[in-house]
Amino acid sequence: MPDGPRPGAAYAGGVLTSTIGGRQISVPQDATVLVSVNPANQAQEVARVAFADAHTFVDACRSAKSAQRAWARVPAPVRGQVIANLSRLVAANKETLARIVTHEIGKPIAEARGEVQEIIDTCDFFLGEGRRLYGQTVPSEMPDKQLFTFRVPVGAAAIITAGNFPVAVPSWYIAPALLCGNAVVWKPAEYAAASADAFAELIRRAGVPDGVFEVVYADGETTFAGLTSALEGGFIDKVGFTGSTDVGARIGELCGRHLQTPCLELGGKNPMVVTEDAELALAVEGALFAGFGSAGQRCTSLGTAIVHESVYERFLADLDRAVRDAIVGDPTRDDVLYGPMLAERFARRYEEFVSWIEPYHRVLGSTSTGRIRSDNARPGFVGDVAGLYYHPVVVADVRPTDKLFTTETFGPIVGVTPYRRLDEAIELANAPGYGLSSSIYTTNPTSAFRFREGIGAGMVSVNNSTSGAEAHLPFGGNGRSGNGSRQSGVWVLDQFTRWQAMNWDYSGRLQKAQMDTAAIEPDLDFRL
Ligand code: UN1
Repeated sequence: MPDGPRPGAAYAGGVLTSTIGGRQISVPQDATVLVSVNPANQAQEVARVAFADAHTFVDACRSAKSAQRAWARVPAPVRGQVIANLSRLVAANKETLARIVTHEIGKPIAEARGEVQEIIDTCDFFLGEGRRLYGQTVPSEMPDKQLFTFRVPVGAAAIITAGNFPVAVPSWYIAPALLCGNAVVWKPAEYAAASADAFAELIRRAGVPDGVFEVVYADGETTFAGLTSALEGGFIDKVGFTGSTDVGARIGELCGRHLQTPCLELGGKNPMVVTEDAELALAVEGALFAGFGSAGQRCTSLGTAIVHESVYERFLADLDRAVRDAIVGDPTRDDVLYGPMLAERFARRYEEFVSWIEPYHRVLGSTSTGRIRSDNARPGFVGDVAGLYYHPVVVADVRPTDKLFTTETFGPIVGVTPYRRLDEAIELANAPGYGLSSSIYTTNPTSAFRFREGIGAGMVSVNNSTSGAEAHLPFGGNGRSGNGSRQSGVWVLDQFTRWQAMNWDYSGRLQKAQMDTAAIEPDLDFRL
């Protein structure tokens, strides 16, 4: 039961636990305690987090569900004030929060600041929505009758997020969900617990009432078991999930049994097409940032560059040079392209992706592959070899049947493949079956529009990287990248509200729709 201090102090060395009713629960006696470490130097402990069991997850959902009704009665403009407070608090703590993110998941500090800015941008968009959240007045087909639509909150939402964007992506769910009058149970990534705790504390200090916002730390299977029970118990009305395609499919299946449509933001194998007339230097710069920024650990990271055969070798030579020259290492420095992998398990999985390189591929961009160590050094490396640092790799001559072509490879690895005709490039871009982000570098507007029309992705960049979406355009994917749900901007309102239709008859009699409507008699046989 909630008997401990308010959370928020864990970064100073306490053990983080979950909340029920907005209060930190005491550390369960048999709890697994995970130590979140700095991936740039794994000897540095960042936080300790006690895992909750499935019952605790359900209790948090029950608590959120019961707190939600009162929150929904708070006028939307007042809820908007809470989001405005959150924006101000995040802005005032921007540098500290960015440093926590860098310290815990190794994101370069410049990108971590950008990540925190994304929370502010998201809040700034939604604080005003509290004064809109428009419904419509709609004419009736009968006199003395008026029709209306209202947006009503969905209820309690379980939000399960990944740790590559440990605070920005959660804010895409949490800010609109709260603004719309929902309660939220947030299950952050356990390896990013300190970042989650810091953000959660800012959310509470912004004025979100106890119980309306709960945080549960748990492993994946426990979360799934808890979610299963919470859905059965009727405590959860909406699930938001950012993570792998496989887990997203399981969550979709589970929610479907309860006639719910989750908001799913899954993996990507994001293509970048470079046409024969593209500005090559720009395309190379875009590929470098999209493929290797955040060590390729964004869901929007570049998967395969699909390059016209006439510029293929030049593109490869320029990208090879750019990747070799890039600074890899200490993420607290402003000049690094990327730092370490997020955590040990991502490093292990990445080693498997590197093992998919075939003898017929050309490996470019580095003097070596795999982990950067003293005996496997990278020239110009500025990190500590105790960190989870990996050589960047450009894999040329990837074939459509290669695993490297068909499967998301979270990490600093980019495939390159040639094409001849634009329709062939579009087919290659769609072939892996994901559909999150995509990009085309071209100076020909026709190619840009043809690509937009043919690509299955939810997001298309022209002469820009696959990553770096702005916080007020619809974000989301199709196919293996998601179920068509969209986050951000006005579009996410459809995730966290349901339309309610109301009709009001003031004629004083029963007017039957379709039957008691006035008939207008036209003369349809008339001809000039
Ligand atoms: C993610 O990796 O889950 O567009 C989100 C981008 C970022 C968000 C990525 N603003 O790359």
